[in-house]
Amino acid sequence: MKRLYLSREEERIYNGDFGWAYEISMKILVKLGDLYGAERLIPIESAHVSGVSYKTIGNAPIEFLEALVASNGRVKVDSTINPSSIDFEDPSFNLLPGELIEKQKRIIDLYSALGIEPTLTCTPYYIRQIRTGSHVSWAESSAVIYANSILGAWTNREGGPSALASALIGKTPDYGLHRPENRRASVLVKVEADILSESDYGSLGIYLGKVLGDSIPVIQGKIVREECFLKQMGAAMATSGMVSMFYLNGLDGVSQIEEKITVDNRDIRRSYEELSSAFEKPDLIFIGCPHCSLEEIKSISSLLYGRRIKEDIKLWVCTPRFIRSRAYDCVKVIEASGGRVISDTCAVVTWLRELGVETLVTNSAKTAYYAPLMSNVKAILLPLKKCIEVALREV
Ligand code: F3S
Repeated sequence: MKRLYLSREEERIYNGDFGWAYEISMKILVKLGDLYGAERLIPIESAHVSGVSYKTIGNAPIEFLEALVASNGRVKVDSTINPSSIDFEDPSFNLLPGELIEKQKRIIDLYSALGIEPTLTCTPYYIRQIRTGSHVSWAESSAVIYANSILGAWTNREGGPSALASALIGKTPDYGLHRPENRRASVLVKVEADILSESDYGSLGIYLGKVLGDSIPVIQGKIVREECFLKQMGAAMATSGMVSMFYLNGLDGVSQIEEKITVDNRDIRRSYEELSSAFEKPDLIFIGCPHCSLEEIKSISSLLYGRRIKEDIKLWVCTPRFIRSRAYDCVKVIEASGGRVISDTCAVVTWLRELGVETLVTNSAKTAYYAPLMSNVKAILLPLKKCIEVALREV
């Protein structure tokens, strides 16, 4: 197999002249590049690394991170990390065993020692602006599809190790969605269904992910260009499928179209049915998958203003700590109603059962899809307003 071209300095890194952390990172990138036929490495502007929650990764990567730190690895570009399994500032998580809390702290400390900002969010784009047309190396499928489709950045769907290797080298192999010829749409999706809420968009995304696989669609029809709708649709498409990019309404790439799909109300209804596995009273109402924007926090606080949620239901609103710190008044309203504004984690990557949750209601199709699989809890998918209504009244 032909190996990708390396500059003299890249060869020296490959051969270990700058230490093991850079050598192993370069070897990961070269292996990946060779596998996908890249000709060279290209510089990136940022990296977003997944594999942070101790619940999802366990002990295995800790030794690897320790070895990177021990050989003085430091990231070369702005780098952020995905949510962990715990909000260390929220007392609800004190219920978890001390060993889990210590292990989670250790993982975050190791990433920080590599120079990565402990942002602990899946929506790094709310923290730092990403330049249109910039090459980045992001893991976290919901952020990848958002970056490619909404921000106009260029990234492959990285895994945690490859995003981390790119962060340490400051480069990524030039293949896949870093190449213009691979960013053309091949499927035309006509949406004839009436989709009105973020959970409708999420249901549409889950349906499309299943039929599209890893194709790039142009989505036309009754689509509203509202950020929170598109965020939900993209996250869901990347959950049930490998979709990493979509176009909206425009005619980009339509000449390449190989397939046409129509989505109607029955498809959305079926998708809702598949995503709702419970009918009983929930223990948790979870909003914030992907993590909420400031605008979403404002809408939630206006729905809760002056009201109280039921004593026996928890309400979690997950948002990046950066946004939480800028939403002081909204946080006060949400917490005065009995809800919690949670950062650094989410309902999918924490230990829900250990926190007393068996059934949750959410407005996120991604959570409704994953929570039963990853946490063995039941889920009900509803639009935001209905989620809040459930929190506020007997069901
Ligand atoms: Fe983010 Fe957790 Fe959803 S990491 S995308 S809130 S599953």
